[in-house]
Amino acid sequence: MKIAMLTGGGDCPGLNAVIRAVVRKGIFTYEDEFIGFMEGWRGVVEDKSMPLDLDAVGGILPRGGTILRTSRTNPSKRSDGIDRCMATLEKNQIDALIAIGGDDTLSVAQKLHERGAKVIGVPKTIDNDLGGTDYTFGFDTACNIVCEALDRVHTTAEAHNRVMVVEVMGRDAGWIALYSGIAGGADVILIPERPFDVDKVADSIRQRHERGRYFSIVVVAEGAKFSSEPGQGSPVLQDMGKDEFGHVKLGGIANILAREIEKRTGFETRAVVLGHIQRGGSPSAFDRVLATRYGLGAIDMVHRGEFGCMAALRSNKIVSIPLLEAISRNRTVDSEMIQIVDGLFQKADEREPAEK
Ligand code: F6P
Repeated sequence: MKIAMLTGGGDCPGLNAVIRAVVRKGIFTYEDEFIGFMEGWRGVVEDKSMPLDLDAVGGILPRGGTILRTSRTNPSKRSDGIDRCMATLEKNQIDALIAIGGDDTLSVAQKLHERGAKVIGVPKTIDNDLGGTDYTFGFDTACNIVCEALDRVHTTAEAHNRVMVVEVMGRDAGWIALYSGIAGGADVILIPERPFDVDKVADSIRQRHERGRYFSIVVVAEGAKFSSEPGQGSPVLQDMGKDEFGHVKLGGIANILAREIEKRTGFETRAVVLGHIQRGGSPSAFDRVLATRYGLGAIDMVHRGEFGCMAALRSNKIVSIPLLEAISRNRTVDSEMIQIVDGLFQKADEREPAEK
């Protein structure tokens, strides 16, 4: 078969591992031929591709980013965008297209599938919030990066008696904040799923310091929201710009929060924004394996003819689920998980336990 691949949306470590696994199994097992469309859907709209053979995927397993490059191009934003995608697939005599991406990329894949294209999805999001699958590759690497940053921030916070507010990725879901916050021993974890009261955050830090601690670490997801002033209920934006899928640019909550904490507690507070460092560099061993498994699953799905479906991880098995299921909802942190993690922290309004 002649199979095309593309990577769309924000990059994350492990994309190259997927591409490599697809190409190797496709060639070794099925005698497939591959091309890669460049820069996400832009490459399909503009018919820009590169050959993908064993040489092209040699040595890419540990490399971050994506050899196909990526973009947030949305073909549906142009009146002829989807038609042009269909024409490119036909012109290149593509038997199947594997689209590696998050809900935006996969929503375009679904549109093409509805038009008759033979499309398969591979889930990708650093935020780990795509529906239908338990974990996405890149997330583990991001958590390791944040965890290491938190360890480093701890020592400087401790040396200076400071509160450090660390902003991490997580537009709608707080998985990175939650996992890395647990792993890095954060004292406060703030996620988009649960708007927070800055007075309570300040109280809990004050109480911790009354217990004899003299520094604190707060991890905040970029999409977290204040439940009261400042900014009640809305995420903090970098600017008013939106991408082609209508997403705003988040960022800046750590600076505002640091200021508000310092104002309320009197403790010297600093903000650290980790940003795209979380998405760069080599994938962790876990992500290399997960990404490879997704790739191997996807090429098998092509040969089983499971089009309009996405490879998903369920109970540690790669299975095939409808694309529609994956894109219909985000997998945010559920209240049960929030409650479990709450057990780690003393509530701001709880009294100190009596001394033994
Ligand atoms: O959607 C994944 C994500 O990493 C978000 O956490 C973040 O808000 C956004 O992408 C950043 O996008 P960009 O790379 O376009 O700045």
